[in-house]
Amino acid sequence: MISGKWFADMHTHILPGMDDGSASVDESIALVSELSRQGITTVAATPHFYADRENPRQFLERRQNAIALLKECTDGNVTVLPGAEVCYYQGISQTEKLPELTIGGTNLLLLEMPFDNWNPSVINEVYSIQRDRKLNVVIAHIDRYLSKKNIDYIEDMLCFGILFQCNASAFLERKQRKEVLNMLKNREIHFIASDCHNMTVRPPRLCEAYKVIEDRLGHEAIKWLCENEKSIFGR
Ligand SMILES: [Fe+2]
Repeated sequence: MISGKWFADMHTHILPGMDDGSASVDESIALVSELSRQGITTVAATPHFYADRENPRQFLERRQNAIALLKECTDGNVTVLPGAEVCYYQGISQTEKLPELTIGGTNLLLLEMPFDNWNPSVINEVYSIQRDRKLNVVIAHIDRYLSKKNIDYIEDMLCFGILFQCNASAFLERKQRKEVLNMLKNREIHFIASDCHNMTVRPPRLCEAYKVIEDRLGHEAIKWLCENEKSIFGR
């Protein structure tokens, strides 16, 4: 644990039975305990929202029940905020209930982009969420979209004030580490999150990632990430 230097995890799948993340209350408790052990005190529960599978009202109802179930069984050492990982769809910027899918107490919308190469129509709709709906878009796991064809869009998004979240695992994989460290060095990554799904194949690995960052980029990079989190969750 890199004590006192960071405290939030804005992208997790810790809610029991909500999506492809935690499958049971026991697994959720284990995930929350592990995050707490790593020094995290605020966790956004961000289950997948797919507009082609359910409407926002149904999703919000399910999420409320899952959060209540989790809160009954945890000791309250970790604050769990309701959120969502909203998968991009055409027309998303027009969705009435979009503000209700932001991370609780913030205006951050965690957005999962299409996995094929992006196009101007997709990017314009993302900008519309930010400009017209006045929500601050955070692209979930930016590390998954770093193809050559997306690079110009990524640079443009940064200029537009879109925020980027990178998965902790990207700092631990030899294939990606150099690229994401370089982005962070240039302050092109604003948040690191676990995107944890379970305790087996996708456990929270924030501690290890922060250790790599501190070793390679020094204290200033940790401070930058911490300040970004504090400005949102530390109030
Ligand atoms: Fe996720």
